[in-house]
Amino acid sequence: MKCSKCGGMAVINLHQHRLRLCEAHFLDWFTSMAQRAVEHYQMFTPDDRLLVAVSGGKDSLALWDVLLRLGYQAEGMYISLGIDEGIGYSATSRAMCHKFVVEHHPEAVLHVVDLAAEYGRGIPELARSEHRGRGKPCAVCGLVKRHIMNRVARDGGYAAIATGHNLDDEAAVLLQNTLHWQAGYLARQAPVLQEREGLARKVKPLVRCYERESAAYTLLRGIDYIYDECPFARGATTNFYKELLNDLELRSPGAKQQFYLHFLRARAAGQVRFEGPAPETIEGEDPSGLQSCTRCGQPTTAGSLCAFCRLWERR
Ligand code: AMP
Ligand code: FES
Ligand code: ZN
Ligand code: ZN
Repeated sequence: MKCSKCGGMAVINLHQHRLRLCEAHFLDWFTSMAQRAVEHYQMFTPDDRLLVAVSGGKDSLALWDVLLRLGYQAEGMYISLGIDEGIGYSATSRAMCHKFVVEHHPEAVLHVVDLAAEYGRGIPELARSEHRGRGKPCAVCGLVKRHIMNRVARDGGYAAIATGHNLDDEAAVLLQNTLHWQAGYLARQAPVLQEREGLARKVKPLVRCYERESAAYTLLRGIDYIYDECPFARGATTNFYKELLNDLELRSPGAKQQFYLHFLRARAAGQVRFEGPAPETIEGEDPSGLQSCTRCGQPTTAGSLCAFCRLWERR
């Protein structure tokens, strides 16, 4: 298999782009895909200070690496969630973030927020005392991560929070929301969520990259990452939709990309419109009736205390 650009030995076949690339050309290509998404969706500029949310997984570490190489002012933030489940999940993922800095970007700044040390309880204990948990702590975990990311971004005056969501993640969520006709979610699923009063801007520079591409990128760059997914995410419905889309992709290369990117284009062009109540995915995201939480000051629609602060009231 020969590189479509230089005729050297190709290491990856990007069926959906009809491209086969050698190591050097793939690394360039992946980096420029992220850069083009940043420009196309007007995510941020070199003058902006960014907070990259790193989980220790391949996507977010690939993203941080790419942004640093492109010269962006990108600091990392890892949230230690206190998840062990017999595999030391949080300890290992945190170690991967530190290892990345030491081995690849010793000048980079990594902020670590340790949930249990700072607030007294980790995700498993919190989920047990919260009805949303119902055995699976993912909803509580999502709420906690969003709150802390927003707090750190706001306190540090960062222009945006960048996450490692890739095309597979976004297409799976889109399929799920389409099958359930979740108009509110379809209206706001986007590569950029603009900042609003008290809420930082959120951007996803890898939305045009497949998961296997960020895996290949980390492998070729020699970036070590945590292979295990969160033990609580096993059997998650998003994984089921990812598998469905991967089957489709096998039969029709590019189907995943077309599904997601054509959705974004059609919505941006006004060809499809979705209306519905804003989903409560982000604390206080519904702009009507926003007020400040009396304890933490973050915006909330939930009353005097935001959902995050209410979590700690329960035992
Ligand atoms: P997930 O929801 O686990 O698929 O993660 C989506 C994105 O959220 C990742 O690519 C990271 O950018 C960010 N993220 C997930 N977990 C953490 C964490 N513990 N600390 C900081 N960022 C995280
Ligand atoms: Fe939060 Fe798994 S990462 S529950
Ligand atoms: Zn080449
Ligand atoms: Zn609060």
